[in-house]
Amino acid sequence: MVNLVRMPPSSTARPDPRHRAAWVIGASSGIGRDLALALAAEGFQVTVSARRVDQLNELVAAARPAHAMDSVPADVTDPASVDLALEEVQQRGPVDVCIISAGTYRPMNLGQFTAEGVSTLLDVNFMGAVRVIAAVLPGMLARRAGHIVVIASVAGYRGLPSAAAYGASKAALINLCESLHLDLRNTGVRIQLVNPGFVRTPLTDRNRFSMPFLMDSGAAARRIVRGLSSSRFEITFPRRFTWMLKALRLLPYGLYFRLVGRTIPSETHR
Ligand SMILES: NC(=O)c1ccc[n+]([C@@H]2O[C@H](COP(=O)([O-])OP(=O)(O)OC[C@H]3O[C@@H](n4cnc5c(N)ncnc54)[C@H](OP(=O)(O)O)[C@@H]3O)[C@@H](O)[C@H]2O)c1
Repeated sequence: MVNLVRMPPSSTARPDPRHRAAWVIGASSGIGRDLALALAAEGFQVTVSARRVDQLNELVAAARPAHAMDSVPADVTDPASVDLALEEVQQRGPVDVCIISAGTYRPMNLGQFTAEGVSTLLDVNFMGAVRVIAAVLPGMLARRAGHIVVIASVAGYRGLPSAAAYGASKAALINLCESLHLDLRNTGVRIQLVNPGFVRTPLTDRNRFSMPFLMDSGAAARRIVRGLSSSRFEITFPRRFTWMLKALRLLPYGLYFRLVGRTIPSETHR
């Protein structure tokens, strides 16, 4: 069987996912949902989790009988719920690939900036991922095998208007994954970071501004599945947009603030 973890970066060979178990958390809608379907179509045995059980059941029904999929409810803000869900998932065998797509977003202008609001968002986007990683990591380390995939965002690259809480949660995730990537060397366990640009999902449907290079979530899911079989640490797309944002990271503050202040629509400042 081709090892997902050790594929060379230039390889175009597809991973052989037969008998490999993937757990996708945040799969009741958007990127996580399409990712679960794409992984199931590749032959992974997929377990999907989120809070909304009806959406999970509908997803499982859409995948079956052609593909192997089960659902286990989980709330990433509740450590007991995460532990219970993992216990149930592991009754079918160890988790080979754990994908954390659970997240939330709302634009936050100055009038909406409250400690409680920031804390609530960080609890889902950052601590939620931390809880899942902390739950799956000991088993993976003991088996010296496993693949953790965290969906952060290009919004974590640098500060953006009206995104203090969301951007901070994603910046924290990026830093966390970088650190863990270094710590996990020689353990047999791998962590990969996904930084998408704009993807059309219920999360972005609430944006009132026009989103450059907007992708549909099926295409985003396919990019992620392809990226899983590469040895790259970061999976990011669409390339043209994310390379522009990477270039912005290199600018000194004065220039960066002037450029972003001019280009981000003023309605997001209100
Ligand atoms: N769409 C984009 O443009 C974009 C760009 C960059 C990064 N991202 C990131 O991609 C991830 C997926 O977002 P999406 O766009 O696909 O949005 P989405 O359609 O709103 O999906 C969010 C998923 O997270 C789950 N979730 C939220 N709170 C949860 C909780 N407490 N416990 C468990 N699951 C929870 C939701 O399920 P329940 O409500 O059923 O729990 C849902 O399945 C997020 O981390 C987002 O920040 C999105």
